[in-house]
Amino acid sequence: MNLLVASLAVLVTLPSIILGGPVRLEVFDVDLVSEKDCYNNSLTLHVASSSIDRGFVESQTVKCLNIEHGQITYVTQGAFDEVPNLTYLSLEGNRITPRDLFSFGGLKSIRTLILSNQVNQYDGKELVIQGVYPQLRYLDLRNNSINSVRSLADNPFPVLKHLDLSMNRIVYFDFANLLPSTLSHLYLNRNSISRFSGQKFSNLMVLSLDGNNIDSIGDVYYGLNLTGARNLKSLSVGSNRIAALSKQAFKDNVNLQYLNLSSNSLSSLHSDTLESLQMSLQVLVLDGNSFDDIPISTIMNLTTLSMNCNGMKHLTVNPLLNMPYLKKLYLGGNTITDINSFAFRFQTRLEELYLNDNNLTYLQDQWADYMSSLRLLDLSGNRFELLDSLLKSPVAPIREIYFDRNPLKYINAAAFKAIPENATIHLQENPNRIVGSCRPTTPSVATEWPSTTGTWSPTSGRPWEWDSTSGSPWYSTSRGWWNHYKKMSTENLSS
Ligand SMILES: *[C@@H]1O[C@H](CO)[C@@H](O)[C@H](O)[C@H]1NC(C)=O
Ligand SMILES: *[C@@H]1O[C@H](CO)[C@@H](O)[C@H](O)[C@H]1NC(C)=O
Ligand SMILES: *[C@@H]1O[C@H](CO)[C@@H](O)[C@H](O)[C@H]1NC(C)=O
Ligand SMILES: *[C@@H]1O[C@H](CO)[C@@H](O)[C@H](O)[C@H]1NC(C)=O
Ligand SMILES: *[C@@H]1O[C@H](CO)[C@@H](O)[C@H](O)[C@H]1NC(C)=O
Ligand SMILES: *[C@@H]1O[C@H](CO)[C@@H](O)[C@H](O)[C@H]1NC(C)=O
Ligand SMILES: *[C@@H]1O[C@H](CO)[C@@H](O)[C@H](O)[C@H]1NC(C)=O
Ligand SMILES: *[C@@H]1O[C@H](CO)[C@@H](O)[C@H](O)[C@H]1NC(C)=O
Repeated sequence: MNLLVASLAVLVTLPSIILGGPVRLEVFDVDLVSEKDCYNNSLTLHVASSSIDRGFVESQTVKCLNIEHGQITYVTQGAFDEVPNLTYLSLEGNRITPRDLFSFGGLKSIRTLILSNQVNQYDGKELVIQGVYPQLRYLDLRNNSINSVRSLADNPFPVLKHLDLSMNRIVYFDFANLLPSTLSHLYLNRNSISRFSGQKFSNLMVLSLDGNNIDSIGDVYYGLNLTGARNLKSLSVGSNRIAALSKQAFKDNVNLQYLNLSSNSLSSLHSDTLESLQMSLQVLVLDGNSFDDIPISTIMNLTTLSMNCNGMKHLTVNPLLNMPYLKKLYLGGNTITDINSFAFRFQTRLEELYLNDNNLTYLQDQWADYMSSLRLLDLSGNRFELLDSLLKSPVAPIREIYFDRNPLKYINAAAFKAIPENATIHLQENPNRIVGSCRPTTPSVATEWPSTTGTWSPTSGRPWEWDSTSGSPWYSTSRGWWNHYKKMSTENLSS
């Protein structure tokens, strides 16, 4: 066996979950192997051969083993028997097929196991779990072409907390019986799942199902059933096919703090749907849907609402009345042309207001008078030709006003008097400031729409998503894209 002990390396194993976009929520962490555990006790191996045999490494002290990005296709059963204190193992980026991913057999002391990104070009393969992993807390199986899961043991991971099966080819999540009720973090992004029931997972805190095929949420058989998930704190079901939510969708999720429903086809929310979330919900993300209004019709304790890339044209009287604690509001990438002077009447706690990339040409005199906590106002990417009185309110402690990407022709002298002391007005686009842009969802998803169950319709569809990684002004690039795309997807649908 050809192996080279290249270096003793420190492994940093604290995962951080970045929820992307301008909205972030703290991570509900689990007790994983920490950097300290691996410190001075880890080994990084560069293995040139295609297999790892029994006894290839022997050590009582090594706790962390890193054997990544090699040519390994097979690990012999018992290969890690001579590393009895192994708590962390990464075999990321090798060439092991799903059938052989657990061929080393049970590992008594392992707590963290990283088996993601195997280089293989299969259509979809069965994952076979061999052995029992009595201490395993964290398992990463991302991006492995897995389409189903089978285990030789009944309960292979009795204390598993964190499981990531994102970017696989799972259509049926029918292996819940192999997972323990200790599971608190479950990531199933970018599969093809249309049904999921939280029944077994009473301890689930974080569930992420972005980029699947879910079309409903509620006490349903076909769809996402969250009945009984009382501990759920964070739920993300972006980029699915949800056109409506049942009144009972979240009835048991009374601890939900973060809800991301972006890039679906929603155009309304029933007040009963949100009732159970009144106290708990802090962050609601509805980017890239079809709302033409702010849909919160029940009093909520939200601090952040994000509705970028919807179809809002006007902000009328008091649309935010039910959110007295709101601190951040994102309304970028709509086509808002006018704002009623009472629109923000009760937003005394609002600190950041994003109205970028809309169709605004003017603002009413008193529009900002009540926002006595406003610190940041983003008006970039609109149609203002004149900079006059942005804010009349003398109370606003505003510091930053973004006014770039407007066809500005004049600055009115009165504007200077009305600008709050200490405020900076940015007139030039800053490439380092990520504002995001609306972009169409990937056409590959669109081509699947007509062939599936048929609840998606081109008129209710909303092929937008919020892209926070792109800094380019959406009006000059993505809008052209969008028109092109709209045409294309309509053609696809009718053929
Ligand atoms: C790692 O080893 C160095 C040198 O032997 C020692 O000074 C340090 O305290 C050790 N760190 C830990 C966390 O054990
Ligand atoms: C390794 O594990 C054995 C028993 O499993 C234990 O006796 C020993 O102290 C451990 N060594 C270290 C360095 O943790
Ligand atoms: C998936 O894994 C392959 C093979 O390691 C890698 O080339 C690719 O970048 C991975 N994809 C993602 C999205 O991480
Ligand atoms: C939804 O889940 C609950 C509890 O997990 C279960 O009792 C109920 O039967 C499920 N509903 C449907 C329609 O399958
Ligand atoms: C919401 O989910 C989408 C996936 O559909 C993701 O791309 C986006 O970053 C999330 N947004 C926020 C604000 O967390
Ligand atoms: C609502 O939020 C406010 C401020 O965040 C807090 O003071 C209040 O206690 C919350 N109300 C409930 C019922 O949670
Ligand atoms: C934006 O405003 C311009 C002029 O004010 C108008 O011609 C255009 O139709 C508006 N666009 C939308 C999408 O409302
Ligand atoms: C502006 O900044 C100065 C110095 O930091 C401070 O003393 C003053 O109170 C500020 N004014 C307002 C209106 O916040």
